[in-house]
Amino acid sequence: MLGMDLREVLTGAVVMAPMTKGSNLPYRRLCVEMGARITISEMTVARRLKQRKKGEFALIRKFEGEPFFGVQLAGTNPEEIGWAAALVESRGADLVDLNCGCPIDHFTHKGIGAALGRQPARIRRIVECMKKSVTKIPVTVKLRLGWNDEMRNVLDQAKAAVDGGADALFVHGRTRNARYRFAADWDAIGTVVAAVSVPVVGNGDVLFPRDIAEAKARSGCAAVMSARGVLIKPWLFREASEGYLDLSGEDRVAIYRRYIALAKEHWGADAHGLERVTQFTRWHTDFWYRYVRQRPDGTFPGLQTREQDLNLRSPLEAFLARPDGAAHDYLTECLVHDREIDPAQAPEPVVVESRERELVETEG
Ligand SMILES: Cc1cc2nc3c(=O)[nH]c(=O)nc-3n(C[C@H](O)[C@H](O)[C@H](O)COP(=O)(O)O)c2cc1C
Repeated sequence: MLGMDLREVLTGAVVMAPMTKGSNLPYRRLCVEMGARITISEMTVARRLKQRKKGEFALIRKFEGEPFFGVQLAGTNPEEIGWAAALVESRGADLVDLNCGCPIDHFTHKGIGAALGRQPARIRRIVECMKKSVTKIPVTVKLRLGWNDEMRNVLDQAKAAVDGGADALFVHGRTRNARYRFAADWDAIGTVVAAVSVPVVGNGDVLFPRDIAEAKARSGCAAVMSARGVLIKPWLFREASEGYLDLSGEDRVAIYRRYIALAKEHWGADAHGLERVTQFTRWHTDFWYRYVRQRPDGTFPGLQTREQDLNLRSPLEAFLARPDGAAHDYLTECLVHDREIDPAQAPEPVVVESRERELVETEG
């Protein structure tokens, strides 16, 4: 896209966030069908590309008809990431992004992801190398507010990225240590918008059209990015242009079935393919069940508090809201094998398993 004005591309968009596992190719296709115009890959480790790891190459693949596909790279070595940036450009990426947000110890111990946020000078060097390596696509950086509350250095990170040549910034409004414990700080995102000349895309807790409007008004950002929101409701992209959509249980199942069709197209419908389709579908059901409709008083549920839907209209909606693994296994089975979903036939929750899940959630 030579001569492209990135600000123009970004303005008003809801960007589908980079998500390990969540940004799988068929889910991105589903989101594009729902109106997404900008999609980002799963985090891709530059070194693994250098090592020619097949699994990593799968992550950078753009699907035919994908309107604007960004690839997110992770690493610490400027030359290596520069090399990877050139590679993804040659493979059709429309944008290349640097991950400065991944909180997972396995990566931060190696200086990757959020650990880069503690070294603004390194961010600058990496971005310089990326800019030198690509010929026409824009380079972006995805930042967090800082490592923890004592080190909220997002402005230093942002300036370093822009000095290095970044064309836009994605800012997740939480620190690394906060994980998802607190609501995203859109005022802090606003300080970045005010401090840099490039477009800023704010990220955190966007679930309903109302959240998009509030986030923009509060921060002045050019666009918003959504991660968990689009895993819970891929139709958020449609809502961004049409307003709140009160989908029925049947409407939702039709969307989930469309995902299965796209997943089968991608991974195949033979035994091996179906195994992958099942694995991914089961993973997605852990987000799909969290959907809660607009409350009867007209207000909307938020992402940060998990509330029970007291406004269920049918046995199907009650089934889709079940949080237990037995329900998710049954839903997955019905979807993957194209069977009718009969809430009366769904197995009862397995109590022991849900206790284990609770333990995992509190410890995790
Ligand atoms: C399942 C999942 C995987 C994620 N993987 C990545 C990733 O690979 N790269 C990245 O920069 N952020 C990743 N994130 C973080 C999101 O991009 C986003 O910054 C964060 O979830 C906040 O947005 P939200 O409040 O809309 O969820 C991931 C988030 C989720 C839920």
